[in-house]
Amino acid sequence: MIISGDIASVHTVAELRAAVDAWRAATARIALVPTMGALHQGHLALLKEARARADKVVVSIFVNPAQFAPQEDFARYPRDLAKDRAMLAAQGATDLIYAPEASEIYPDGFATRVVVDGPGRGLESDFRPHFFGGVATVVAKLFLQCRPDFAMFGEKDYQQLLVVKRMAKDLDLDVAVVGVGTVREADGLALSSRNAYLTPEQRAVAGHLNRILDGVAERARMGVSIPQAEAEGAAQLLEAGFDRVDYVAIRDAETLAQLRAVSRPARVLAAVRVGGVRLIDNRPV
Ligand code: PAJ
Repeated sequence: MIISGDIASVHTVAELRAAVDAWRAATARIALVPTMGALHQGHLALLKEARARADKVVVSIFVNPAQFAPQEDFARYPRDLAKDRAMLAAQGATDLIYAPEASEIYPDGFATRVVVDGPGRGLESDFRPHFFGGVATVVAKLFLQCRPDFAMFGEKDYQQLLVVKRMAKDLDLDVAVVGVGTVREADGLALSSRNAYLTPEQRAVAGHLNRILDGVAERARMGVSIPQAEAEGAAQLLEAGFDRVDYVAIRDAETLAQLRAVSRPARVLAAVRVGGVRLIDNRPV
């Protein structure tokens, strides 16, 4: 175990288990916050919520190769463990950093994949078919390695949050999956590690996403039909300068099933591209 600043770091499953088993023996309630590092205020909001609910807080930092397609940004995904450690130490909400190597999570011969249907179908899966299998597999492993009482996930990745909730329930993983509200920049852009890829011009365009989704939700609430509200939103996004709209969709907020009308809690979700950068966002209707 390495002590850096005041936060301990472990890199293996055995070290993680030794730490959390000792806490559990002392009846501590444990929260896990899974991340891929490149931490920002959105991640810190999850850690703050974890601190409020649990006695001990573990953050995992692992850029998970299984959720990137070969043409995606795995190799250039931002990695700066020293900076992440400093942010976590400054915040003071974290008790333990778990930063495994890929070989620890996926040793030679690894052959299992967790696939979540239901909320995992459609939307992101239409564009990133490998994605939720990779997320569900690594999150299932992290839950089994750490056995937390709570795990925090951001509403920013709303479909991911529902996929993880469904998986934890279906596999009896006995962890309360808690959704945390999206942290945004002043102009509404959701914080994301990938925002670092945006040029200043692209960053200006990106600021329109939240505002346009707000309008889509508002019109759907006012009785504009769902297909019309979605189509208007897509047109406005293109007009605002996005290069591509993968989807703008109004769905059931709990299952992501398609809706005929907004007669129960609904969510508008979107994925767009500006230059080579893909952004996702969502909000309640
Ligand atoms: P990552 O993108 O690092 O995000 C880690 C967690 O932070 C996720 O639950 C995500 O929803 C949350 N988050 C990101 N931006 C946020 C924001 N602006 N406001 C609030 N929460 C935000 O999501 C992943 O990593 C990975 O898929 C992972 C779950 C770790 C599995 O590999």
